[in-house]
Amino acid sequence: MDYLGLFPVFYVPDVGSAWLMGLTGTIHIMASHTSVGAAMLFAFLAHKAYKEDRDDLYDYMKRYGMFLLIFSYVIGSITGPGIWYTATAASPRGISALIHNFVWVWATEWVFFIYEVIAVFALVYFIGKIDKKTHLKLTYTFALASVGTLALIIGIISFMMWPGNDAFYNTGSASDAFFGLNTFPHMFLRIGFMVMMSGVIGLIISSAMKRENVELSNELTRKMGYVGLIGGFVALFFFMWYISTLPANADAVLGLTLDSIIFNRIILAIMFSLYFFLAILKPQWIGKYLAVIMMFVIGIVGVWPGEKLRESMRKPYVAGQYIYSNQIISRDVPGKGVKSEVEVVAAKGLLGVDPWVPERLRTITPENKLEVGEYLTKRACSNCHSLEKGGKYRSMIALFTDKVQMTDAASIKSYMQVIGTGSIPYMPKIALPDEEYDAMAEWIATQINN
Ligand code: HEC
Repeated sequence: MDYLGLFPVFYVPDVGSAWLMGLTGTIHIMASHTSVGAAMLFAFLAHKAYKEDRDDLYDYMKRYGMFLLIFSYVIGSITGPGIWYTATAASPRGISALIHNFVWVWATEWVFFIYEVIAVFALVYFIGKIDKKTHLKLTYTFALASVGTLALIIGIISFMMWPGNDAFYNTGSASDAFFGLNTFPHMFLRIGFMVMMSGVIGLIISSAMKRENVELSNELTRKMGYVGLIGGFVALFFFMWYISTLPANADAVLGLTLDSIIFNRIILAIMFSLYFFLAILKPQWIGKYLAVIMMFVIGIVGVWPGEKLRESMRKPYVAGQYIYSNQIISRDVPGKGVKSEVEVVAAKGLLGVDPWVPERLRTITPENKLEVGEYLTKRACSNCHSLEKGGKYRSMIALFTDKVQMTDAASIKSYMQVIGTGSIPYMPKIALPDEEYDAMAEWIATQINN
């Protein structure tokens, strides 16, 4: 038997592995984007402090830096590897594809990151202890290293959406994989958001300084209002550009929820514009509790839906438009020596090519049929759908009962055959032998009617 190089299915009931990814990703983005944004902000503040001889700004940078160390660097360094663990479990072949394309890019990013961590410690620790010019130079290198980590990682994340350039499939070259159509809009979208985040966090620090120095606190609150406003508009502008650089399958998914996304972004834009204008016009009204609440708002209302969307829009692929979310390879990539697996799955069935099927389920019998059906549905569908009744993540049961209104095994099977032709843009082409469809359809029907 020739097995495919599949890994065991990482199955998370109710919420699905994608939600785990989204949750870890959201926390990580809050931390990492704040740190890159703050690195740019520090470069600006340190420049100003040096040129205008403003000693009071160093105090602000020191407090901000302490916050960064505790918030961004501790949380960011915990959730960064957390993303790796979650992604490796949820989508081992997606991660494998990224490593096979970008191992040196990643290594370089890591070097930048190490510099960034050392620099942030040095910056906070040496404020007031080294001469200002040296401090300023240190701040510039910190900013460069931080933006460097962003630039490198963005090429990789953009490749997950698509190489954006067909040459890659034949050359397999890292630069063809890296410089796609959406790499730059994505990069500037993130840079805008990072600047905005540095303003959101900056407002927490400046409003907390009120008691010691009202004037400085108000001045900085006003400045952070401008920073947030500028960052927010840059992010919004590039977001619109970014969504115009997406592949066709992403447009199909986007089309399902476009209204609610646009509604969400408009509400956010209004809310945060008001907040930043308030900071500029009435800085004394911005209290530290409000500032902390707004940080959570941006996380929960802004980043979390954004991350879920980014995960969704890639469907049916997880990386490079050649690995489906259910880990089957969808096409040949001659440049990487990768071969499509769709045909062999259609011919031999998942039971014939998946090394992880327990031996007692390898052949379908009347006794094990439902159990096989459950196994196969987890393998083929659970990466994108919760299978439980009331599951939170694009519940398959709800989709069958409400969206397509099919509840009996025969019509479920016929629907799966449609998926099997690859005609639904956001679902993987997964043609299977008849008896495997039967087993899955029967198990799904039992779940629905239970
Ligand atoms: C790569 C991700 C992915 C996989 C794997 C996947 N689906 Fe879907 N499926 C989607 C998306 C995205 C939607 C659109 C959901 C919506 O309407 O919000 C969807 C919708 C559906 C619908 C609703 C009808 C429709 O056409 O929108 C059904 C039924 C469905 N899937 C069944 C399945 C079954 C059965 C499997 C396993 C053979 C499967 N899906 C595998 C992503 C996937």
